[in-house]
Amino acid sequence: MDIAAKQAELDAITWYHEFDFGNGLRTKTHCHQIDQHRHIWQFMESHLATVDFRGKSVLDIGAWDGYWSFYAEEHGARSVLASDDLGQNWSAGRGIHLAKELLGSSVEIDQSQSVYNLAARGQKFDVILFLGVYYHLHDPFHALTQIRHCCHPGTVVVIDGPVATNLEANEALYDFPNQYCEWLPTIGALQQVLKATYFNDTVAGYLDPMAPPTAPATQVPPPGRLGWRWRLQMCRDALRGSRADMAAQLGRVIPPPVSRDLRPHTHNKRVMLTCTPHEGAVGLYNYRPPFGLEAYDPRFRDASQKRAA
Ligand SMILES: C[S@@+](CC[C@H](N)C(=O)[O-])C[C@H]1O[C@@H](n2cnc3c(N)ncnc32)[C@H](O)[C@@H]1O
Repeated sequence: MDIAAKQAELDAITWYHEFDFGNGLRTKTHCHQIDQHRHIWQFMESHLATVDFRGKSVLDIGAWDGYWSFYAEEHGARSVLASDDLGQNWSAGRGIHLAKELLGSSVEIDQSQSVYNLAARGQKFDVILFLGVYYHLHDPFHALTQIRHCCHPGTVVVIDGPVATNLEANEALYDFPNQYCEWLPTIGALQQVLKATYFNDTVAGYLDPMAPPTAPATQVPPPGRLGWRWRLQMCRDALRGSRADMAAQLGRVIPPPVSRDLRPHTHNKRVMLTCTPHEGAVGLYNYRPPFGLEAYDPRFRDASQKRAA
């Protein structure tokens, strides 16, 4: 192999993941905030190390360059489907093919597979990886119903993503213009969606943000009448028309607002969940659940079957 030519081929690709293919061949990630990503990848790897891939059929949803698909294969998976919807990320999709070639891998690649159409494949998998994807979705509930339809009773679904730490319990934030995080749930909201899509879940672990927000340095005086020096200074700033100085003066006496910074990588925890399919009644529903979920709930399944007969 012409190593220099191969490295040039690697360098022409906009990689997300960092691969080391040996012989000095490496990929350079084009991610911003690379330290945060490395921190997250280590977290994911430490949890994936506890998943038994041996002899299993694996579906990797939103595989991008296929890093975790190749990981599953390397750890004994019988078959791996690396799926993605290429229209949903900033790469041209060539990376996974080159990585497959360099690794001598047999991973199957489908880059036209949206999570929203998974059930149409009619396939069930032993292990499903749903890593770093849910927070980019406009309809995570629909996505999870599709994943549920790809489960047999023994399937394990591994889910990773950010969870909000400064929303109220069970709240979730939709923020579609934010291309880093279109949906940010609290752990309670995420678990509610999982329950509503007929999954049981266990929190495998949390990762704290790398750089937690620092407390504001401002010493806010106790409430009470403002002192004459402060009032005099405020008058001077107002007479000079200095908005900046007036704002600074106010900042000395008004407590800062509670942080609503919801950036996924810097200000929120990351969670890793292990989920298994649930079959039986789910207390969230008094009426038939949507998207074919009644198949897992005898109360509604039996009624549907009777109606159809
Ligand atoms: C942040 S990357 C995560 C990549 C990889 N799973 C990981 O954890 O390192 C998000 C991935 O989700 C994919 N994605 C986003 N929306 C999707 C959708 N509707 N269907 C399938 N994949 C989607 C993107 O194309 C991208 O590959």
